[in-house]
Amino acid sequence: MGSDGKYKAAKLALELVKDGMVLGIGSGTTVEIFLNLLGEKIRMEGLEIYGVPTSYQSYYAAIRNGVRIVDLVEYEPELCIDGADQVDSKMNCIKGGGGAMTREKIVAKASKKVVIIVDENKLVEKLSMPVPVEVLPFAYGYVSRKLKDLGSEVKLRHGSGKVGPIITDNGNFILDCEFDKIEDEKVERVEEDINSVSGVVENGLFPKAIVDKVLVGKS
Ligand code: A5P
Repeated sequence: MGSDGKYKAAKLALELVKDGMVLGIGSGTTVEIFLNLLGEKIRMEGLEIYGVPTSYQSYYAAIRNGVRIVDLVEYEPELCIDGADQVDSKMNCIKGGGGAMTREKIVAKASKKVVIIVDENKLVEKLSMPVPVEVLPFAYGYVSRKLKDLGSEVKLRHGSGKVGPIITDNGNFILDCEFDKIEDEKVERVEEDINSVSGVVENGLFPKAIVDKVLVGKS
């Protein structure tokens, strides 16, 4: 059911892609569906599409699908397509379920337009899931204490396939930080407060000012 919604959202995003475009390419399963559809379009219509990927996952998925990889040194993406873990009623988002939020935020901010693709299960009235925070391993203890002082419960993210903490594509740890529900007017403030702690690289709060459009696929 969720993946049907993801497919529909990805299909809508495909309509925004034009020949010769430079795309910012987010990460996650919805983006991977989008890239597979894009690959078909590239093959069928002989398009040339360029992309700045935000993770190893989207890097390899983009290559498999015939997208030419470029970087932010030479290019400013016209359109960034990315998924999200939660989207509130004002279009503030939480991202980073896949641990890629740092590059995702950089590429989103570097892009002229940002379009988020989600299935309807991601929609909430107010943001409420833990906020992923990427942190330098050296600073982990200090940052944890500071984030607790900000009122959050902090958990170091572990995964499967490796013992110990998850290491991001940038070589860092992730802390999942649970705050109470985050009201629309507080999103930017919380984002800044987290990022003001020395040792924090970036966090997964994407305030509505970064987001131009949310495409929701309903199953
Ligand atoms: C990756 O770190 C995330 O920000 C993803 O964009 C987000 O988790 C959405 O992923 P799915 O499309 O897999 O739900």
